[in-house]
Amino acid sequence: MRSHFCGLIDETLIGQTVTLCGWVDVARNLGHFVFIDLRDHEGIVQIVAEPVDVAGNAEVMAVAAKVGYEDCLRITGVVRRRESVNTKIQTGQVEIVATRIDLLNKAEPLPFHHHENPGEDVRLKYRYLDLRSPDMQRKMRTRTKLVSALRHYLDARGFQDIETPILTKATPEGARDFLVPARMHPGEFYALPQSPQLFKQILMMAGFDRYYQIARCFRDEALRADRQLEFTQLDMEFAWVGERDVQDLTEDMVRHVFKEVIDVELDARFPRLTYAEAMRRFGSDKPDLRIALELVDVAEQVKGCEFAVFTAAANDPDGRVAALRIPGGAALSRKQIDDYAAHAAKFGAKGLAYAKIDEAGAVNSPVAKFFAEGAFDALLAQLGAGKGDIVFFGAGAYNKVSDFMGAVRLKAGKDFNLIADGWAPLWVTDFPMFEWDAEENRYVALHHPFTAPAVDSIDDLRANAKAAVSRGYDMVLNGNEIGGGSIRIHNSQMQSAVFDLLGIGEEEQRGKFGFLLDALKYGAPPHGGIAFGIDRIAALMAGCDSIRDVIAFPKTTSAQCLMTDAPSPIADAQLAEVHVQVRGVE
Ligand code: AMO
Ligand code: AMP
Repeated sequence: MRSHFCGLIDETLIGQTVTLCGWVDVARNLGHFVFIDLRDHEGIVQIVAEPVDVAGNAEVMAVAAKVGYEDCLRITGVVRRRESVNTKIQTGQVEIVATRIDLLNKAEPLPFHHHENPGEDVRLKYRYLDLRSPDMQRKMRTRTKLVSALRHYLDARGFQDIETPILTKATPEGARDFLVPARMHPGEFYALPQSPQLFKQILMMAGFDRYYQIARCFRDEALRADRQLEFTQLDMEFAWVGERDVQDLTEDMVRHVFKEVIDVELDARFPRLTYAEAMRRFGSDKPDLRIALELVDVAEQVKGCEFAVFTAAANDPDGRVAALRIPGGAALSRKQIDDYAAHAAKFGAKGLAYAKIDEAGAVNSPVAKFFAEGAFDALLAQLGAGKGDIVFFGAGAYNKVSDFMGAVRLKAGKDFNLIADGWAPLWVTDFPMFEWDAEENRYVALHHPFTAPAVDSIDDLRANAKAAVSRGYDMVLNGNEIGGGSIRIHNSQMQSAVFDLLGIGEEEQRGKFGFLLDALKYGAPPHGGIAFGIDRIAALMAGCDSIRDVIAFPKTTSAQCLMTDAPSPIADAQLAEVHVQVRGVE
């Protein structure tokens, strides 16, 4: 149908006749001339219909005069140099004088045009119109290039791409499962995989050595800017490795794809932080190291004050009192300080004390009165706080204070423009093996239950479960967890002991994970791996705030596809076929 792409017409083609297909981005009818910006996936080129004395020209003018937004055209014409160069488009040096225009498909009046931003709901309902925009095309292209670069990298290093089932048994990754009724087994269900975790481990036991898969994962959890119900992982597993083997290769891979896809040189060596240090200094297990603000522990300095909230936390071994100095923060109004407290409250804070130091050096703080003469000023001086600064204080349980002060740090980083340009990758290591779930009254796995503990024996683990550290690791980039993995348990008894500590009894172990416990008995090699969030990396590379922008057909935050109207009710007959009866729905 065509000889060239619109976006690739350049000066080397001047004088040549070309045939192009595309959409009418804009048409300007000046009476004697019609200018059409014709767009395809490569870009835009200007077409001119003008009343020159060539055969068929009247017809060209007649068609051109009728075209409107998003009509599909096929145009033949001659490339010539443009009089007024348009520096905004790649083809801006040239234009095409049309000798023939075929209107292939007329578009009806549009619900919106990609030159406007009608709001995300409308964009998602007419996703095909939204995706036509050059900006969305660029974002999706970035994703394609990322996946291609990853595949090239791994194919060249002997990784085998192996598919694992979508209809399977539940794999616990901490979210709810999506279930699929099994028509041939009344009352039974498949689960969609939260990840290919157990299959990839079993592939290592099956002799495959190095595996990867661009794998779709399904998790029924609350959606956010960086979370979808179904998302894509680069899933990897290696046999005969320790954590450094996995980390070194994947760090090199990430460096390689950033260079290849967006020409960015990441650090030669990613910094490493333990989980404990990340929480202490940044109040997060995925710290954004572009923000040069750090939490400082001040329990010692406030132990003796008269503010019960501070002293209680300072004297509790599981408590924390942390301070965050924000240079220039004294400019915050009372209302803005309340906004910070409200933000902290979303992360569990009961209050957010502060000290403002004005330009004259006067301190304004609701908690200064609780300190002995001079003690509060001394504390502020120790924190390096001076004129024009604000210091926020958080007190309470260690993890809670870390969380809400970490959230305050991020907000301040944004509000005060303290986020440095560039890329800040790092590894976070030495995660706790377990977290105590007070509601369920049992331990839960911080990574997943197949992660190996960093202990030598089952007895050591049992004796020290609360403090046990796992062999898990996350890769973090600009405050986003882009990958997570671990060295796995490769011994059946250790796996059983960990299930046991997680409150999974023997019967449940057999029922849910019997195949794994068996496979671990017949010569399972030491193995480990990692999975990267493709959507998250693509969004970072393309400069998007949400992963929805690099997913062709994403769900809204209320878990719907507005284009197809999924999910939707199912007819009774079809439900009966899969032995399902709906109940309790209004
Ligand atoms: P994890 O649960 O940490 O590990 O997931 C790995 C990476 O997948 C991305 N990710 C998501 N992206 C979009 N939407 C979601 N809902 C979502 N959930 C996770 C993140 C995350 O770092 N089986 C293990 C990996 C392993 O141990 O090898 C796993 O799935 O970028
Ligand atoms: P109150 O005496 O309750 O008015 O609190 C005095 C100050 O301490 C207020 O600014 C509160 O926001 C703050 N505050 C209360 N609880 C905490 C807490 N857990 N951590 C930090 N500041 C707090």
